[in-house]
Amino acid sequence: MTFTNRTILITGGNSGIGQALAEGLQALGNRVIITGRKQDSLQTVLDRNPEMTGYVLDVMDDIALSAFPDGVLAAHPDLDTVILNAGIMEAEDYTTDPVELDTAERTIATNLVAPIRLAAALLPHLQSRPEAALITVSSGLAFVPKASNPVYSATKAAIHSWTQALRHQLRGTKVAVHEIAPPLVATELTPGQSKVAAAMPLRDFTDEVLDIMSRDDVPDEILVSRVGFQRNAEAEGRYGAAFVAING
Ligand SMILES: NC(=O)c1ccc[n+]([C@@H]2O[C@H](COP(=O)([O-])OP(=O)(O)OC[C@H]3O[C@@H](n4cnc5c(N)ncnc54)[C@H](OP(=O)(O)O)[C@@H]3O)[C@@H](O)[C@H]2O)c1
Repeated sequence: MTFTNRTILITGGNSGIGQALAEGLQALGNRVIITGRKQDSLQTVLDRNPEMTGYVLDVMDDIALSAFPDGVLAAHPDLDTVILNAGIMEAEDYTTDPVELDTAERTIATNLVAPIRLAAALLPHLQSRPEAALITVSSGLAFVPKASNPVYSATKAAIHSWTQALRHQLRGTKVAVHEIAPPLVATELTPGQSKVAAAMPLRDFTDEVLDIMSRDDVPDEILVSRVGFQRNAEAEGRYGAAFVAING
């Protein structure tokens, strides 16, 4: 199962990794539908890629999130691949009094609840397709957390766990379940991150991911080699060293 001649929905396709994957997958011969929270950046991506379709969707908006699946399926009944990419990463400080929980709640709603709700709404349709895929986007921080971003790291660990369980439940169906776990990539996920020297260039990351997705047998976990530092830290007995390298 390669990713060509498919109809692919990518949440958060109006910037960063989502946009780069959208453009790359379209170049591989797929029909691509993107969503974004911000109308202006969504329109900019659609202007650059007139073959794409786009929808404004704020996944924090319960009413919009509930209405979206029926709308997108009515307009795109051939949808067969969903990439749950939209996410936020914000710092939290548990040493303050009181501890502010808005960030934690926003992060859980965006990074965890929204993908679960979208998957639940779209899986019955995906199971009706001759072949289909659900792809989650976790993080290297799912495997070794960043202490400045406790709930972000926890949502990504939860997405990893949830993805494994879904894959097992869906093993007898037409829906393949994959997980992309990016390392630090040069996007504006956090302010200034795209200029951080240690971040993997977005183009290099996307090229490596698309190369893996073009194989005849796409692995369950779509891992660029750079994320092995975190993904394999525990198994290779260097979890403590990896934690220190990430958190000082
Ligand atoms: N870059 C990294 O280092 C890295 C590493 C590991 C994992 N990841 C994951 O990769 C994914 C993409 O991140 P990125 O690096 O490409 O960052 P990004 O450029 O900031 O992209 C995040 C995307 O999520 C969308 N989004 C955020 N909140 C939303 C909401 N409430 N409703 C709808 N869309 C929302 C954004 O839409 P708007 O722009 O319209 O707000 C944007 O399209 C995220 O899940 C992130 O956790 C990134």
